Amino acid sequence: NVAQPLELLVNGQLHTLAVLPTTSLLHVLRNDLRLNGPKYGCGLGECGACTVLIGDRAARACCTPVSQVGVLPVTTLEGLEQDGVLDEVQRAFVQEQAAQCGYCLNGMIMTIRAALNQGCVKSFEDAKQALRFNLCRCGTHVEILRAACLACG
Ligand code: FES
Repeated sequence: NVAQPLELLVNGQLHTLAVLPTTSLLHVLRNDLRLNGPKYGCGLGECGACTVLIGDRAARACCTPVSQVGVLPVTTLEGLEQDGVLDEVQRAFVQEQAAQCGYCLNGMIMTIRAALNQGCVKSFEDAKQALRFNLCRCGTHVEILRAACLACG
């Protein structure tokens, strides 16, 4: 196992890194690129706290080897904001005050962003469905679902 040079496009910036190909994308984002939006929760792909976009789709960064990303762009929570303006999903979560401890919110927001990118959130039930594999230990799911619906218009 030897570190290899690797290019990674994250939030519109191209980075050249020397990493082991099996290193998780989450490790690279948090430890090498200092992007702390994606959170480490379970490390097993089960809680969703580490969710990022790879291309337009949601991916669990904790169990995605960085070498699997290839040329697809990665977007983290930090990359949703453009020129100081929050993304519509971020704004909805602020408006609905959907956080309690806030640890899960990265995953909730990125999952809804991905679902909207796919055009598959049109109702409260769709939002519930989209977030069914994202865990919140505080139990703020009602506010989270309200925010998800608001973001979906
Ligand atoms: Fe990645 Fe839980 S930390 S799914």
